[in-house]
Amino acid sequence: MMYIIDSANLDQIRECVEYYPVAGVTTNPTIISREKTDFISLIKSIREIIGPDRMLHIQATSHDAEGIVREAVSLQGIVGGDFYIKIPVNPEGLKATMALKKMGIKVTETAIFTQQQAMLAAIAGADFVAPYVNRLDNIVSDGVHVVGEIVDMFKIHDIKTKVLAASFKTVEQIHKIAMVGAQAVTISADLFQTLTYHPLTQYAIDDFIADWESCYGKVDILQIIENQKNK
Ligand code: G3P
Repeated sequence: MMYIIDSANLDQIRECVEYYPVAGVTTNPTIISREKTDFISLIKSIREIIGPDRMLHIQATSHDAEGIVREAVSLQGIVGGDFYIKIPVNPEGLKATMALKKMGIKVTETAIFTQQQAMLAAIAGADFVAPYVNRLDNIVSDGVHVVGEIVDMFKIHDIKTKVLAASFKTVEQIHKIAMVGAQAVTISADLFQTLTYHPLTQYAIDDFIADWESCYGKVDILQIIENQKNK
């Protein structure tokens, strides 16, 4: 499963890329607008940090298919590398997806809430579909169930489109999405930390340090090797 950062904050992206096995970055107009900065230099900086091989998903803001296609072409030229245009799933979005498919530009259809939205997006040619897990849970639907059915439906119909689950608030949601077979999750920088931390892990680490130091003092293995060489 791929882990993606759902953020346009350069510090957060830098940190996540350094510490976690991150496959790319997703943004949307809400995430971009939080940074309150020049859009073009922001997306160029994100590309610079993540390099050309990680995915960068940027959402179109035009409301009609023709505008979405033009934005996709321009954005691909600006950021290069492994680029995906994110398009909300509505009739104009589907029309744009079909056109972009023919042009060889990769598409992530987003803001997906139902299995049939995902199916239509996939058949239109989307490379990824992005269902919103927590927003489904918030309306007393079941985000994991919806994503699980999308994954199964794609398998039944031999559809190659991948499921990039989005909108997460808890580790439990992420784990359950992994268990139903989604190929990717996009999560906040905070959730990367929450996923990693466990008090018993920290306790174990503290114990290892205390036991080591009680025998060898405050030296690490590298220092011991260096000392050995200098003898
Ligand atoms: O990638 C889509 C995601 O950003 C939506 O998340 O937390 O606003 O529901 P959220």
